[in-house]
Amino acid sequence: MDSQSTTYNYKVVRQFSIMTVVWGIVGMLVGVIVAGQLAYPHLFEGIPWLSYGRLRPLHTNAVIFAFGGSALFATSYYVVQRTCQTRLFSDGLAAFTFWGWQLVIVLAAITLPLGITSSKEYAELEWPIDVLITLVWVSYALVFFGTIMKRKVKHIYVANWFYGAFILTIALLHLVNSAAIPVTLTKSYSAYPGAIDAMVQWWYGHNAVGFFLTAGFLGMMYYFVPKQAGRPVYSYRLSVVHFWALISTYMWAGPHHLHYTALPDWAQSVGMVFSLILLAPSWGGMINGIMTLSGAWHKLRTDPILKFLIVSLSFYGMSTFEGPMMSIKTVNALSHYTDWTVGHVHSGALGWVAMVSVGSLYYLIPRLFGRQSMFSMALVEAHFWIATIGVVLYIAAMWIAGVMQGLMWRAVNADGTLTYSFIESVERTYPFYYVRLLGGILFLSGMLLMAYNVWKTVASEQAVDEAIPAPAGH
Ligand code: HEM
Ligand code: HEM
Repeated sequence: MDSQSTTYNYKVVRQFSIMTVVWGIVGMLVGVIVAGQLAYPHLFEGIPWLSYGRLRPLHTNAVIFAFGGSALFATSYYVVQRTCQTRLFSDGLAAFTFWGWQLVIVLAAITLPLGITSSKEYAELEWPIDVLITLVWVSYALVFFGTIMKRKVKHIYVANWFYGAFILTIALLHLVNSAAIPVTLTKSYSAYPGAIDAMVQWWYGHNAVGFFLTAGFLGMMYYFVPKQAGRPVYSYRLSVVHFWALISTYMWAGPHHLHYTALPDWAQSVGMVFSLILLAPSWGGMINGIMTLSGAWHKLRTDPILKFLIVSLSFYGMSTFEGPMMSIKTVNALSHYTDWTVGHVHSGALGWVAMVSVGSLYYLIPRLFGRQSMFSMALVEAHFWIATIGVVLYIAAMWIAGVMQGLMWRAVNADGTLTYSFIESVERTYPFYYVRLLGGILFLSGMLLMAYNVWKTVASEQAVDEAIPAPAGH
């Protein structure tokens, strides 16, 4: 064992890193299948557990919690150890978080296709699995904050602030939103009635976006962008302002998911106003990340890992501009229920979340396995272009389809009757569903290239002591 491995617990980081690639492929494959079902509705007809309604939540759970979650566990455990210059607080608890989280994922993959669901979006898993998630999450918090407590440096690097906020907030969201009355082992009913249930659900749903899909990944950005660029973060002061502004604003934006519903009008307006304010901290973060490259822009030409990281920030900027626009009630009247929402989701999910994770993993994997670099940087470059073209095809198709649907649904003739029937709008959407399917297949192919590259890197014969040491400090 090299000295890095005895000082730090890299085992759990390696395990989560590998599983990020595996779950990324599984989750995106299910995404491609559901995209295929929308383009070819007879796909898997008559097989209940492969029906669209069951595979769609399997896709969202697999990509958000299995792929995104594993990436967050891997990077947070690495970053907290490196920046605190100490080993994880407890190896045993860390191992429990790994195996516990994998068990949650396997249980999700069994129960969702069987149709066992609480029917709350992004919180579909039934109560026994929710209890397991709670145990894993409390252990995660103990490992993470325990490591911060025993740090060898005075300073707490800003990436840890974001990871810490993500861990605490997800605990709170999960506990409140999953409160339910169990009836049997596989069925429970929400503890909240009607409109309150909807409000709690979207307070959860939006903060799942804000903290699971954003704050944790910003932690990743604050560590891996400066590392890969070889430059200090652009402005430390901006990162502190960014942190407090972002976490205090996200909490209030949830009602933008419930415009024109039974939710009181004032609550909808609060959601809209806070969403508009959210543009500022989001862009503050993006600017801080991108400007970290100032003085090193030329590296973008040759370094595909940096390309992943910087392009992910551009998608982050795009989706956090689009989100506030969509939260304006009159804009939402057009976008809601259409594929525009799905386009927005994937510009964030594929463009930001997946690309920043992939870039960070390409940085991490050679270091974790004591290698000089990835097996093939040409394959990393190829992955970058295939993924970028895939995302652009996906989101451009959904934007056009979404605006078209919204306009067709609201078009009226001079006599007040609807110009188009609903089914006409579905028919017109097909070409865009084919393009989205192609975009998805491309993105998934990029992940397969990555898996091959990772496998070759890990399996290479290179001796451990030849490896470049992981960079000092944070
Ligand atoms: C190959 C890549 C992917 C493909 C082909 C794909 C495809 C799809 C499809 C077809 C849907 C259903 C849309 C609908 O109901 O109209 C969907 C929903 C969703 N996907 Fe993906 N997806 C991919 C990757 C991802 C990733 C990496 C994430 C997150 C990190 C993600 C998050 C979501 C979410 C949150 C939804 C629900 C959206 C909503 O309710 O509005 N997807 N995806
Ligand atoms: C400033 C930041 C953002 C704001 C204000 C915002 C706002 C919105 C709005 C208004 C909707 C449509 C709600 C509806 O009509 O039902 C939406 C949907 C969504 N957004 Fe964002 N967004 C932001 C950033 C992001 C990012 C970065 C991601 C992903 C990483 C993301 C993921 C989602 C998801 C998954 C949905 C679909 C939820 C569902 O209906 O299932 N958002 N967002």
